Amino acid sequence: MIAGQHLLSMRDLAADDIEHILSTAQGFLQISRRPIKKVPSLRGRTILTMFYEASTRTRVSFELAAKRLSADTVKTSQRAAPRSPRESRCSTPCRRSTPWQLDAVVMRHGASGSADYVAARISARVLNAGDGQHEHPSQALLDMLTMRQRFGKLEGLDVAIIGDILHSRVARSNMIGLATMGARVRVAAPRSLLPRELKAAYRVSICDSVKQAVEGAQVVMVLRLQQERMTGGFLPSLREYSIEYGVTARLLDSTRPDAILMHPGPVNRGVELSPDIVDGPRSVILDQVENGVAGTHGLVVPDSRRRARVSLIIQNGRVLDPRRALTNVPTFWSKRAASAASAPPAR
Ligand code: CP
Repeated sequence: MIAGQHLLSMRDLAADDIEHILSTAQGFLQISRRPIKKVPSLRGRTILTMFYEASTRTRVSFELAAKRLSADTVKTSQRAAPRSPRESRCSTPCRRSTPWQLDAVVMRHGASGSADYVAARISARVLNAGDGQHEHPSQALLDMLTMRQRFGKLEGLDVAIIGDILHSRVARSNMIGLATMGARVRVAAPRSLLPRELKAAYRVSICDSVKQAVEGAQVVMVLRLQQERMTGGFLPSLREYSIEYGVTARLLDSTRPDAILMHPGPVNRGVELSPDIVDGPRSVILDQVENGVAGTHGLVVPDSRRRARVSLIIQNGRVLDPRRALTNVPTFWSKRAASAASAPPAR
């Protein structure tokens, strides 16, 4: 991928791209498990990790993957964000990174579309490690790697995604990637936490309850309730959310016998997941963390198969998907648009 295109959205990847990344990642798992965890694949390359939002798993995964592949890594962080309100937080990374002769930039930012914005302005490859409420493709790839390890393939898999879908870039990337790979995705969430564009933009079925969504599922992916992104009025109370939408051992009883429980982390124990199942036999949450390093290995290794890049278009401050002409993510820096994207959906 370092020698190939940006990775901004799972829509950039066809099924054979995803398969190629997952196969590469699977191979790299062995490297992470041996005493000398280093190969020369990226010797002489420079990767900048630029995280303007908090991250533990993703940042560590990318940095470990880059180091194990012998790349030189540098990082900027929230503290390096511009201090003047007149200075655009998105344009700063472009000005900073262009003269540094970087090979790749791994970027997390609170604005939807920010990775695309930067990718259009610098020569280095941009790997989106989470942009606002838009996408988190590296998380979706490691999630798909985890599912593939357990079930051998993704095609035909029944996946239930439960919880705060509205604010979840993880859900968006997974819904796109899983549909590309032929998995069947159902979702369950309070109406206030379902995005308006869900039916039009994603191949998913919407269930009326968590019980209905998990019944017969092979994968139950529970999302973190992102209270920090909620401007108020989304839920009557955490207690009520937990009663109606919290996943419990009893609910997991109606899944298939070999079903797995996933969560991108960090988990709000006792809110979206009952504490006993977080570490229970169906949980693969720690596998997801381990696969984070392997999955990002799969992303940063050279890929000679160059493909035309399909990206979002930013027009009049709104982020558009050119193939769907959707205004499905909030505007850069516009609080008004962010709250518009938060309105309850029509089912
Ligand atoms: N899943 C995930 O993105 O974790 P971090 O926020 O810790 O990177």
